[in-house]
Formats: sequence, C-alpha cells, structure tokens
Amino acid sequence: MIHHVYIPGSNEDVIILLHGTGGNEHDLVSLSHYISKDATKIGIRGRILENGMPRYFKRLSPGVFDLENLIEETHWLKESIEYLLNSYQLTTKRIHVLGYSNGANIASSFNFHYPQFFYTSILFHPMLPFEQFDYPSLKGQHIFIAAGKNDPIVPNEQTIQLAQIYQKYGAEVVVYWSSLGHQITQASILEAHQFFTKKTLSE
Ligand code: MLT
Repeated sequence: MIHHVYIPGSNEDVIILLHGTGGNEHDLVSLSHYISKDATKIGIRGRILENGMPRYFKRLSPGVFDLENLIEETHWLKESIEYLLNSYQLTTKRIHVLGYSNGANIASSFNFHYPQFFYTSILFHPMLPFEQFDYPSLKGQHIFIAAGKNDPIVPNEQTIQLAQIYQKYGAEVVVYWSSLGHQITQASILEAHQFFTKKTLSE
C-alpha cells in the first residue's frame, strides 16, 4: 500500500492521515504539523481510483456511497494501518486519525467498525457515511469536526446528524463551524490543534 511516514523522534502519538478525493499520502502532512509538531504521521493513499483520482471507497454519484465497498475498504484500511504500525514498531503508541472529506468519511466508518482504535479523530468536512447502522458504543472516542456553513458538498444537517450520532453513542464531540465552504481554514486548523493538545496532554 502506498504511504508516507514522518517520524520526528520519541513521542507518544501517531496520527493517520487520510486525504480527500484526488489527493495522496503527502497532502495532509504539512497541515498535521500544525495539529501536533511532535506526533508521528502516517499518510496512506486510498486504493480506489475514480477517473484517476485516488479515494478510499467507491461512490455511485456525488454524495451517494457504495456501502458494500466502503465496508470492504474500511477493513482494508484497518489491516493496512496495523501492518504499518507493526512495520515501524509503533504498536504501543496512542493512535489518532486526521481525515479530510472522503478521508474523513472513511474515518467515521472506521470508528463505527472499530470503536476502540483511534483515541482522537479530527474530521474536516465529514459526511454521515451510513443512514442506518448498528452502532456500537463509541465511549472513549474524542471527535473534532470542522464544518462549513456554506459547504456545497456537506449539507449542514448531515454534520449535525453525524455529531448527534457520535454523541448519542457515547463519544465526546466538538464541532467547529466556519462561514465558508468545503475548504480547510486556518481557524479550523487552530481549533483542531487546541483540541488535540488538550486531549493528549491532559488525559
Ligand atoms: C465522498 O465521496 O466521500 C464525499 O462526497 C466527499 C468527496 O467529495 O470526496
């Protein structure tokens, strides 16, 4: 699997980086340094191609997901992450995820399938991956969601619904709204940094 690893030195945290449609394993590396300078970062490229653009799962049309494939690729992602953690001797670390758009969507699917895996999830512009799902307890998960009030891809109600599901099943959720669209803003990076610092230093 195509990936990029950045290991700054001795530290407790590993952040898995999941890009948006058409992105790659390098996309979120610089941004992630603002979230945490010291954490190890692993970017993983989605293995699905849509007109040559890497993604983490197939979609039938914009916003309509191929759920069977999403589940299959969620399991692939779990195996890939475990393989990488073993290969780089990172299995004893605290594992986090940072995803943007398509990457944030598979991150939520991952959280619903493997609820004890990620300590914090930083989700930039996520959608609700499943309309119906047999949700497990999500207790112990710390979720940061950045959303745009004028996001043309993610309706506001979906962000609210996603946050409510995380909350209902026991996760701690912080939602940061910008007045902009689907893009990651400097202010949302700063909020995500504060969230991550609080969660990793105090607990
Ligand atoms: C998706 O397909 O995951 C969402 O529509 C976000 C995106 O455009 O990648």
